[in-house]
Amino acid sequence: MTEPAAEHRWQLAPYACQRRTPLVHSNHTLTEALEILAEEAGFGGSEGRSLAFTRAASVLKALPCRLKNLEQLGPLPGLGEHSRRVIQDVLEDGVSVEVERVKLSERYQTMKLFTRIFGVGVRTADRWYQEGLRTLEDLQEHHTKLTRQQRAGLQHYDDLNTPLGRKEAETITQDMQEAVQRFLPGAMVTLAGGFRRGKQNGHDVDLLITHPEDGREVGLLSPLVSWLDSQGVILSQHSQKNSYEGPEQPRDGRVLDRFERCFCIFRLEAQGGLATGRGWKAVRVDLVVTPISQFPFALLGWTGSRHFERELRRFAGHERKMVLNSHALYDTKQVQWLGGGMGCGGGCGQQD
Ligand code: TTP
Ligand code: MN
Ligand code: MN
Ligand code: MN
Repeated sequence: MTEPAAEHRWQLAPYACQRRTPLVHSNHTLTEALEILAEEAGFGGSEGRSLAFTRAASVLKALPCRLKNLEQLGPLPGLGEHSRRVIQDVLEDGVSVEVERVKLSERYQTMKLFTRIFGVGVRTADRWYQEGLRTLEDLQEHHTKLTRQQRAGLQHYDDLNTPLGRKEAETITQDMQEAVQRFLPGAMVTLAGGFRRGKQNGHDVDLLITHPEDGREVGLLSPLVSWLDSQGVILSQHSQKNSYEGPEQPRDGRVLDRFERCFCIFRLEAQGGLATGRGWKAVRVDLVVTPISQFPFALLGWTGSRHFERELRRFAGHERKMVLNSHALYDTKQVQWLGGGMGCGGGCGQQD
């Protein structure tokens, strides 16, 4: 085999967070195939395998044009043997037999159906599958025990699985910006998540709430949610208190943040273009409250994508000996917080 000339190979940085990854790229057929395998591995609890396929897809998203053959890639970190085989199959045959088999499997289809219910994770979906449940009707007929969140998720299944437009997300952001003023003048609402990355559609609206003065945001969420509820805006909500107690070493790269938050389902009134035929539709909204001192880290953490965040934290840890999360950046060599942290009124970031 002759080695292709070096100039025909693409040079890509090893971490996804170091690469430009545009929203629209040239290798959708390949990334979709790999992402189905990532999803399927996740359904089986194989986090490592799932991550390997996600990494491979991420590499392809950063390519400047359509991949024609594997040699163009060279020996990239994050492109395993299994992923290479899948890419090879799609390049040669247009499809991967393995991927097509997964897509048609009862297991994959059922897991997909169940995990699309708000409040249902892989473990619950898997349990239901093991019990022989296959459809949403099965869940109802078998009187399956559901949490309040899952009941709401099931009730609004179709709405919540219909992509949300940017226009709708912006309307909700604007409405919330006005709503927070009633309880805390000067408070600011920022649209994060996929929409902040420029996506035109999303599955929910991620909103960060903060105030220019540190600490003023405390106690805002609960009256806000009660008021929204009294206005008939909230169809379902699940709140969590702030549990941040300052610096801690995350056990792994996936620690969730500890901000006060509310996972809601909003009732969005019709505004032209709503095709539900009933004048409103259910929309998932995440409200997250952060002190201004931690806001930059929260915004970074809540903008995603999940893979970008994971890679950024891996880069911080492995390449910089730092710990990054949605609250702060911590330098393990100098033993100090570089920002965020707690009660950063004045001497922000200093820890004994
Ligand atoms: P998502 O809303 O799940 O995803 P998304 O906005 O990228 O895509 P979609 O359009 O389908 O909604 O999560 C947004 C970001 O928020 C993601 O990077 C992970 C982060 N996040 C946290 O940091 N903490 C949390 O508790 C949750 C649920 C998400
Ligand atoms: Mn393999
Ligand atoms: Mn989102
Ligand atoms: Mn979200």
